[in-house]
Amino acid sequence: MESKIKNLNQKLAKAYLGGGQARIDKQHEKKKLTARERVMYLLDEGSFEEIGALVTHRTKDFGMEKQQFYGDGVVTGYGTVNGKLIYVFAQDFTVFGGSLSETHAEKICKVMDLALKVGAPIIGLNDSGGARIQEGVRSLGGYADIFYKNVQSSGVIPQISAIMGPCAGGAVYSPAMTDFTIMVEDTSYMFVTGPNVVKTVTNEEVTSEELGGASTHSTKSGVAHKTASNDIECLEDIKKLLSYLPQNNTETPTLLPYELQDEVRDTLSSIIPENASTPYDMHAVIAGIIDTDSFYEIHKDHAENIVVGFARLGGRSIGIVANQPMYLAGVLDVNSSKKAARFVRFCDAFNIPLLTLEDVPGFLPGTDQEWNGIIVHGAKLLYAFSEATVPRITVITRKAYGGAYDVMNSKHIGSDMNFAWPSAEIAVMGAKGAAEIIFKKEIQAAENKEEKWKEKEAEYADLFANPYSAAERGFIDEVILPKDTRRKLIKAFAMLENKEVVKPKRKHGNIPL
Ligand code: HXC
Repeated sequence: MESKIKNLNQKLAKAYLGGGQARIDKQHEKKKLTARERVMYLLDEGSFEEIGALVTHRTKDFGMEKQQFYGDGVVTGYGTVNGKLIYVFAQDFTVFGGSLSETHAEKICKVMDLALKVGAPIIGLNDSGGARIQEGVRSLGGYADIFYKNVQSSGVIPQISAIMGPCAGGAVYSPAMTDFTIMVEDTSYMFVTGPNVVKTVTNEEVTSEELGGASTHSTKSGVAHKTASNDIECLEDIKKLLSYLPQNNTETPTLLPYELQDEVRDTLSSIIPENASTPYDMHAVIAGIIDTDSFYEIHKDHAENIVVGFARLGGRSIGIVANQPMYLAGVLDVNSSKKAARFVRFCDAFNIPLLTLEDVPGFLPGTDQEWNGIIVHGAKLLYAFSEATVPRITVITRKAYGGAYDVMNSKHIGSDMNFAWPSAEIAVMGAKGAAEIIFKKEIQAAENKEEKWKEKEAEYADLFANPYSAAERGFIDEVILPKDTRRKLIKAFAMLENKEVVKPKRKHGNIPL
């Protein structure tokens, strides 16, 4: 027995070394942790249990039978984060550049299957040169097996991807189908085809970083939901993100203990500027409402005219969708509609109540928007809110104009409680534009056109630049003082806790894609 135990220990020691010390040193030189170090940092101390540490690949071509590494380039298993079960896979760049072989894919699929059966989040730490070139189609098949499982798990268990090294070719599609992608700055990139192929096909010269680095994907494309400045920050981000989520779609996120106090927040009373055209930072409104420092922003640097993220409100995990008057006056456009729609759908799938903070002058006009399909993309957000069955509350802080009023979780599309501040203006459009259209003849006939226009503008503003017309109709449930917003929301979300919606039987809806 003693020699057998020694034999096992020798094999495990080999497995723990991955591709060997020299390659581990190279990984560290690049300021990257190894797969195993990442897993150990992510999970609660002592909680990791490895599955498949002794798996090896089955390839014989290109002399591969002589190149065997236990684990085959991916560390897989389960453990806990903040005391809760999660499944994890971490690609090991020290073994064939973390490339994906048939057996590497089987290991990932095994933990994905367990995560789905048990109902717990799956976290993928990606660091890979893509398909194992020596394996050809077997490797491609392995990717497709993972993609298929990503889709089966979508909306059932949270799936989170960290990109902690290269991620090229089809390898980008698994992260793209998970719920959240976090990229590490400077050491990670994602693209379907790399700079060399780009140069050959389009004659475009571009660096890896420009083409698919963390900053590109967190600002321009929106492929990355978050960036982290190094591996440790990325892993901390995942832990924090998990704290807002339930284990699966049949559960609700943990409700932290909280006792209602007076909850008055005077800071909220002075945020809205005197002049309706002056911007203000919606983050100040969010901070004034939620539990201290609890905002976890998603897509912070992409489509900044809308702010989305998780927060705690009276200990409850909520999702926030808020127009941002600081950027493009908070208009809805293609990117902000897509960003918010995806977030709303995630929250709805995982029983996270939604709070909408509204100050929106409408949709962004122009050929750029129309030609890029603002009709269809704006419809995504409308659709996402309309189909969401989680508790939904809206607070209109200032403008709620035009179609955007309907879209931003209005009463009419199934919102449960709609509040407005006294500063709210709920109308088809701003008073100036409205007066110009409906009083056109009167303005043109007037001796002093400018004065007449101002007079008519004031008339329209008097009627609609307030929340009362909507409140009279019941479209707004209550006009509230800003300082009372936090208390009203804590109570309303508690009141809605047992909300249930029975939906008609169907295979699935047809969201405009
Ligand atoms: C097998 C690979 C590999 C791969 C890297 N390696 N990529 N082995 N298959 N795809 C090996 C290298 O041979 C090397 O082995 C070790 O990993 C480290 O690689 P280096 O090149 O030395 O590292 P670095 O300089 O950091 O460059 C990393 C890299 C580069 C940029 C990822 O290795 C690279 O370009 N790899 C190929 C990327 C690629 O084209 N993949 C296929 C994408 S298509 P040794 O023994 O020297 O340490 C795809 C299709 C999927 O993935 C489709 C699914 C639908």
